[in-house]
Amino acid sequence: MKIIITRDYQEMSERAARLVLETVKAKPDAVLGLATGNTPLGLYRALVAAYASGKASFAKVKTFNLDDYVGLPRASRDSFWHYMQDNFFSQVDIKPEHVYLLDGTAKNLADEAANYERHILDEGGIDLQILGIGMDGHIGFCEPGASFTSRTGVVNLTKSTREVNAENLLELKQVPAQGLTMGLGTIMEAQKIVLLANGRHKAFILHKALYGPVAEEVPASILQRHPDCTVIMDAAAAGE
Ligand code: PGA
Repeated sequence: MKIIITRDYQEMSERAARLVLETVKAKPDAVLGLATGNTPLGLYRALVAAYASGKASFAKVKTFNLDDYVGLPRASRDSFWHYMQDNFFSQVDIKPEHVYLLDGTAKNLADEAANYERHILDEGGIDLQILGIGMDGHIGFCEPGASFTSRTGVVNLTKSTREVNAENLLELKQVPAQGLTMGLGTIMEAQKIVLLANGRHKAFILHKALYGPVAEEVPASILQRHPDCTVIMDAAAAGE
């Protein structure tokens, strides 16, 4: 793993944006794997700024998001679809037909998951996958105990994940109990992975994931086995 420690959140975001922009420059029709949450907001801001100043185009880029809630309509302001539209897609020249997000309201979630895997393969696989890390070590919605070989599918969300996410959704009882997520096996097939983490609250789990045993209790620890994984963290997240 390549580990980059930055001064602060802004620098973390800019370093990540640079990696994304290099990928898109080298391959204008690159396939990006995208994440939601607080962590990548600065990355999206930097990518939008690069587009606005004419330094980048996403016209040929394809994207696959990691996950979304089961049962939350896309129109809901808390859906990850909404987050992506607001923070990135609506502000750059990406084509709506190039954007893939799991639909947690699909009638048949198993079919939705299988089709997602097929679309990823049809687009040639993910060139660069952006990840955040949850307080319990999750990546995507792959919670502790998820099989390292898991594929896209429905998962139960942990209490910790639901509590953290309740900061955005109004109340805990409104946070869906399940998610639809790429599996760890799916994520590990990306050519390159960039894991982002910021803040002192991430220091303990980040240390465990990067330096502890590779174990299913800490899903992000599987990244130790990826041949091309860069971790960009701010000084606070590097605290341990
Ligand atoms: P956060 O979430 O970026 O809001 O901290 C990360 C995650 O749960 O993957």
